[in-house]
Amino acid sequence: DVDGLIDRFGRVARDLRVSITEKCSLRCTYCMPEQGLPAIARDDLLTPTEIGRLVEIAVRDLGVHDIRFTGGEPLMRPDLAEIIARSSAVAGDASISMTTNGIGLDKRVDELVAAGLTRVNISLDTVDRDHFARLTRRDRLPAVLAGIEAAKRAGLTPLKINAVLMRDTLDGAVALLSWAIENGCRLRFIEQMPLDADEAWVRENMVDAAELLDVLGSRFTLTAPHREDPSAPAEEWLVDGGPATVGIIASVTRSFCDDCDRTRLTAEGTIRSCLFGDDETDLRGMLRSGADDVEIADRWRAAMWHKQAGHRIASPDFVRPERSMGAIGG
Ligand code: GTP
Ligand code: 5AD
Ligand code: SF4
Repeated sequence: DVDGLIDRFGRVARDLRVSITEKCSLRCTYCMPEQGLPAIARDDLLTPTEIGRLVEIAVRDLGVHDIRFTGGEPLMRPDLAEIIARSSAVAGDASISMTTNGIGLDKRVDELVAAGLTRVNISLDTVDRDHFARLTRRDRLPAVLAGIEAAKRAGLTPLKINAVLMRDTLDGAVALLSWAIENGCRLRFIEQMPLDADEAWVRENMVDAAELLDVLGSRFTLTAPHREDPSAPAEEWLVDGGPATVGIIASVTRSFCDDCDRTRLTAEGTIRSCLFGDDETDLRGMLRSGADDVEIADRWRAAMWHKQAGHRIASPDFVRPERSMGAIGG
């Protein structure tokens, strides 16, 4: 039995999210600034070997059973297949998945599946090309759709689609859900969190789950939300009696912090226990100065013990974290 990642509130982290780059092929307004994020120096990024070693420690010594690569955009790393291969070689029964915008996935999906990738979540906020271009500041909807097709062909299913809720997304919500159902994808809407690099988020303008349910309810019959797993962020609703579903990740209005089961690594090799917690613990320095696995596992446990209770977005004294979403990895 492993001595896992337990915090002082009794939560256990079994889901590791690894951000591997700050780079992205899009510039979604709720995430990235127009000019992109400041580049991380090459030497500061964890290498595939280092990522593999941390994954091994997480799975073998710390009880992690789900590994997810995020970014920025993971496909921006030319050595992504090597990262996945080194991780899956030591991941045992743990799943290896990725959250991606899908651009370029069609050209690399076979290589990634061969390396051990088993599932992808693809971000897509709208199927309207003009709206997509405005929201992401890039006219690349066809490339995303090609990525989704390729992922389905390669058997990366169930394929989940993530859509961040904005005013325009709300206008297109019915169309997006119809599209997802026709294309065999599990759509999830996400309440926008104050993690946009531009710092434009204000609660008054945020579209919440209640508003989305109103809009979807005018066209579909939605029944009984249930959570298969209490730590899963999405509530799943049956659409028109099923089997189609739509998920809602109400991170702001129905925070799931009390059941959070995540631990995070940044691309530079620090542990970030909470999306909203700026105190990070460096592991890269330990890796590079010859620390052994026991010392690294102990440092990781100690960092998680102090994980904060949760975000306080709704509170008047809320302070935004320094890193924006693109630099944490969602
Ligand atoms: P599945 O295993 O497929 O359910 O993946 P997931 O939902 O855990 O991962 P994904 O990367 O698709 O995340 C979906 C959204 O959930 C992200 O865009 C975030 O908005 C939100 N999210 C993920 N992790 C956290 C978290 O720890 N806290 C909060 N508040 N939101 C999170
Ligand atoms: N609030 C909520 N979700 C966000 N994402 C990016 N920025 C935000 C935000 N400010 C989502 C992306 C992607 C996932 C990794 O995070 O759409 O699906
Ligand atoms: Fe890129 Fe994802 Fe951020 Fe959009 S949300 S800019 S696709 S990292």
